[in-house]
Amino acid sequence: TRPLKVALLGCGVVGSEVARIMTTHADDLAARIGAPVELAGVAVRRPSRVREGIDPALVTTDATALVKRGDIDVVVEVIGGIEPARTLITTAFEHGASVVSANKALVAQDGEALHAAAVEHGEDLYYEAAVAGAIPLVRPLRESLAGDKVNRVLGIVNGTTNFILDAMDTTGAGYQEALDEATALGYAEADPTADVEGFDAAAKAAILAGIAFHTRVRLDDVYREGMTEVTAADFASAKEMGCTIKLLAICERAADGQSVTARVHPAMIPLSHPLASVRGAYNAVFVEAEAAGQLMFYGPGAGGSPTASAVLGDLVAVCRNRLNGATGPGQSAYTQLPVSPMGDVVTRY
Ligand code: HSE
Repeated sequence: TRPLKVALLGCGVVGSEVARIMTTHADDLAARIGAPVELAGVAVRRPSRVREGIDPALVTTDATALVKRGDIDVVVEVIGGIEPARTLITTAFEHGASVVSANKALVAQDGEALHAAAVEHGEDLYYEAAVAGAIPLVRPLRESLAGDKVNRVLGIVNGTTNFILDAMDTTGAGYQEALDEATALGYAEADPTADVEGFDAAAKAAILAGIAFHTRVRLDDVYREGMTEVTAADFASAKEMGCTIKLLAICERAADGQSVTARVHPAMIPLSHPLASVRGAYNAVFVEAEAAGQLMFYGPGAGGSPTASAVLGDLVAVCRNRLNGATGPGQSAYTQLPVSPMGDVVTRY
């Protein structure tokens, strides 16, 4: 069988792990897919920063030329941000490649148009890594729970802010000190404002709500409050009430079933609640579905290797689809449930 060719766009914390695992696990991946996967090119902005172990002959600064080559099977986009990622992804579809992306901001903003472009060209768009790092959430909502009715998705979906809040609560660390450590560990976004102001969690909430409720939820529909104003005094008051503070994403179907809400804000959590014991950069998400009941998804929500794990899972799925001449589940058929601009802000859970 001919090797499947992969173009990697971005080679930072996540991309370099994807390249490393593709190389070290090449035999396993080939066995699972049914054909070898070959890294055909790596597009970066600064070639001097590319980690050792990647063949310099594969490295290019011309991402557009790479996705236009015409012999690429799968483009893995781990650049982040809206542009040039959006144009590169649509160009990839136009030139016969499927796409695996970890880009929550882009999927939250333009998921609908990107899905439409994938369908138009008969390609796949997978983005498990866009939400909660290694934790499978997109596929369980899109596939395993597709026959059920999800009423609520609630939890911690940003590792950086959980790391900071956890450090402030347990070690009394200052906000800046904890943020610097999260950045050094590779959890934070290139601009950590997206994490601490709740934009990253809001993008993930938009993606999860859209898939869970089969409706369209955009980033702007999500009520958002970051955690920059949480102080040591807030933790002291929370403690007096037997609580801690977490940044939560809450997506709910209204009781009458006629609308949905999605919101992100700091909330007090009783210490007896499982979310209270989510430490460091871990994420935890509860999904409540009518027939299934309450499910809890828990694991590493940020960082190079965990996110690379989700990217590689998607890569295997897309390669298998390609060999079978199939495409995976596309966008859920959208109903037009209105999204309330802001749900009730409940500060205690
Ligand atoms: N900056 C994100 C976080 C990375 O801290 O959760 C994973 O999406």
